Amino acid sequence: MNIILLGPPGAGKGTQSAGLVERHGMKQLSTGDMLRAAVKAQTPVGMEAKAVMERGELVSDQIVSSLIDENLAAMPGDQGAIFDGYPRTGAQAADLDRILEKNGRKLDHVIELGVDVDALVERITGRFSCANCGALYHDTANPPSKEGECDVCGSHEFKRRPDDYEETVRTRMDEYRAKTAPILPGYEARRIVSRVDGMGGIDEVAGAIDAILS
Ligand code: AP5
Ligand code: MG
Repeated sequence: MNIILLGPPGAGKGTQSAGLVERHGMKQLSTGDMLRAAVKAQTPVGMEAKAVMERGELVSDQIVSSLIDENLAAMPGDQGAIFDGYPRTGAQAADLDRILEKNGRKLDHVIELGVDVDALVERITGRFSCANCGALYHDTANPPSKEGECDVCGSHEFKRRPDDYEETVRTRMDEYRAKTAPILPGYEARRIVSRVDGMGGIDEVAGAIDAILS
């Protein structure tokens, strides 16, 4: 099974990907996570992407498609892939078709997480993650069960993303509306798009996604 999770910043793509990995043994391919790892490791890709990401703009199609190409090729053929935050432009959507075909895979579902844009700023500015294992949390909607301790690995260190400020979030939303939303009609024509109400609780959204995959 190969699926795309599509939705604006803060829609819950990363949160729902983590659930799918746990419940179904799929692999999450998040270009955002790959780019943040490259920035941290100060690779040439990371150096090029850093300022672009901090402005909330999109990194070049060539860079992100190469990352997906490399990561997908390294996966066992029978493991399902979740594309989180990719594709984000028409050119990336075309690249993904080519990359999937090369790996003998096909796209089964595009799941669009529908959300109320006003709620997103709240979600994003409240987001933090474990500095050790990357587990995702939210100040009010999804805090660790024991304050100050990661549920997954027990670490006491947490961090926030440098692009999670209101002004940058607004640019990220504009980029989504202008460049990413227009790729949906192409998938609709292929009859593989399902919409899920992303405003429900995390478990409710997960249940709706599982119903589509079953
Ligand atoms: P990326 O990392 O992909 O960020 P994004 O698309 O802006 O999305 P987010 O990660 O902010 O949101 P999410 O939908 O994953 O929500 P989450 O689950 O965390 O990209 C970052 C940057 O990298 C881009 O701006 C760009 O520069 C670059 N980039 C990446 N991919 C690229 C590409 N393909 N092309 C070009 N450039 C690219 O949830 C958010 C918060 O809400 C969390 O705190 C969570 O706990 C909480 N939450 C989640 N679900 C719920 C719920 N149902 N109810 C209540 N709270 C919830
Ligand atoms: Mg994410």
